[in-house]
Amino acid sequence: MTAKQEATPDLKSVKSADKKEKDYGKYFQAPSLKDAKKRGKEEISVHYDFAIPEEMKEIGKGHHYLIRTFGCQMNEHDTETMAGILEAMGYTATEDELEASVVLFNTCAIREGAEDKVFGELGHMKRIKRNNPNLILGLCGCMSQEEKVVSRVLKTYDQVDMIFGTHNIHRLPVLLRDAMFSKEIVVEVWSKEGDIIENMPKTRTGDTKAWVNIMYGCDKFCTYCIVPYTRGKERSRLPEDVIAEVRELARQGFKEVMLLGQNVNAYGKDIEGRKYGLGDLMDELRKIDIPRIRFTTSHPRDFDDHLIEVLAKRGNLVEQIHLPVQSGSSEVLKKMARKYTREHYMELVRKIKAAIPDVSLTTDIIVGFPGETEEQFLETLSLFKEVEYDSAYTFMYSPREGTPAAVMADSVPEEVKKSRLHRLMEVQNEISLKKHQEMLGQTYELLVESESRKNSEVLIGRTRTGKLVHVKADNSLIGKLVHVTITDAKTFTLYGELVTKVEV
Ligand code: 5AD
Ligand code: SF4
Repeated sequence: MTAKQEATPDLKSVKSADKKEKDYGKYFQAPSLKDAKKRGKEEISVHYDFAIPEEMKEIGKGHHYLIRTFGCQMNEHDTETMAGILEAMGYTATEDELEASVVLFNTCAIREGAEDKVFGELGHMKRIKRNNPNLILGLCGCMSQEEKVVSRVLKTYDQVDMIFGTHNIHRLPVLLRDAMFSKEIVVEVWSKEGDIIENMPKTRTGDTKAWVNIMYGCDKFCTYCIVPYTRGKERSRLPEDVIAEVRELARQGFKEVMLLGQNVNAYGKDIEGRKYGLGDLMDELRKIDIPRIRFTTSHPRDFDDHLIEVLAKRGNLVEQIHLPVQSGSSEVLKKMARKYTREHYMELVRKIKAAIPDVSLTTDIIVGFPGETEEQFLETLSLFKEVEYDSAYTFMYSPREGTPAAVMADSVPEEVKKSRLHRLMEVQNEISLKKHQEMLGQTYELLVESESRKNSEVLIGRTRTGKLVHVKADNSLIGKLVHVTITDAKTFTLYGELVTKVEV
């Protein structure tokens, strides 16, 4: 650990989290979005010395843990790390909160709705904590990086025993110890972070698909987005560490890897002394004997020609790209600080389609950004018709305190946002259905993932392009690659018939 990280709590941030300026004692280091905004020039250190303190190694024996995960794949993967740490301390997983000795809420701050959900569930934990006072209830993830959240929890949710931030995950054993032995709430949220902790244990969900972080944080500061504040500055893992992890997953028999980062196209920019980007990394990962490699999330601004060239080599690099556009209007994009225009985005789409004609493109879009006019929204509709995405994640703009857009004038009324979302989804659904219908009668490679929840004789899998296909087959094929011919197409699902009965 660096000296900076071991520093005692900063009183300024304590005050910012608690308006009453009460002294919460020695286990208190609260967040500050203002500090989080600053991007330091310090070098990024990589630590390979993670260890569970001796006295915590057996503490969980005979006890259970439960982690409730909200939000994105990055959070899901952080949960796998926290599960790994807790299991290294002897805890076993449970789905039953009444049985758990440790319950963690790994939270999401991206939209207000996500936060409301967490507060609702935290309220529900009050009764459970009353019946089991030894239960340790922890709040972590993106919400804990916001001072207004920490302040609200301190004032009204006394069932919470500890709060820790997205940069403090490796401190979980120590924080848990402090929470067990202290009567005070334990709060440790670092707002600035420059380090990467490499060798934390992980308990992965499933043995077919795996998430692999390639970078952390985001420096883009899109004006609507809280992520650069909650996840800190861009930090890339070293290529050799990523490659070693993917090799090990291949050796263990995993079939698919999803590379994760908030802005993966900035991969490598922060690695001193090397000119190495996402294209270079993909070109090396391509040579590993694992059937499928995907990545998310891309930023159109940094998506370069070299990456397109490498993706066009295919092999285990699948024909699917998630390319968030956010708006079809260059004026709105400017206010969002996306740093590209509609024309630049369309040119990128053209290049990608020329290099990979059967590519499946998906996107994220926000409707109702402050000041978005009907004409500007129509530009989004027209962009959707031009690009023809395979599917889209559509969101209504939600103001996030501390971001520049939250104080922009001309907020769009809720009903207008709703109606725009609905109109956009109608356009997209038509395109999705058309694209599915074009697949009828064709044969695709499918990675079988699970049984259908509705019918145990039906299995669900995904094509290389990420499309869900239902197929009647024996469940011994779960985790295997097979071939299916598409026999029926609906807006959100495809139905297929097994061609090969064994793994291809
Ligand atoms: N309001 C609505 N949607 C948002 N997103 C990010 N911030 C906000 C916000 N304040 C969306 C973006 C991003 C996705 C993960 O969430 O579309 O790509
Ligand atoms: Fe948020 Fe923009 Fe960074 Fe994506 S690129 S995480 S939308 S700031």
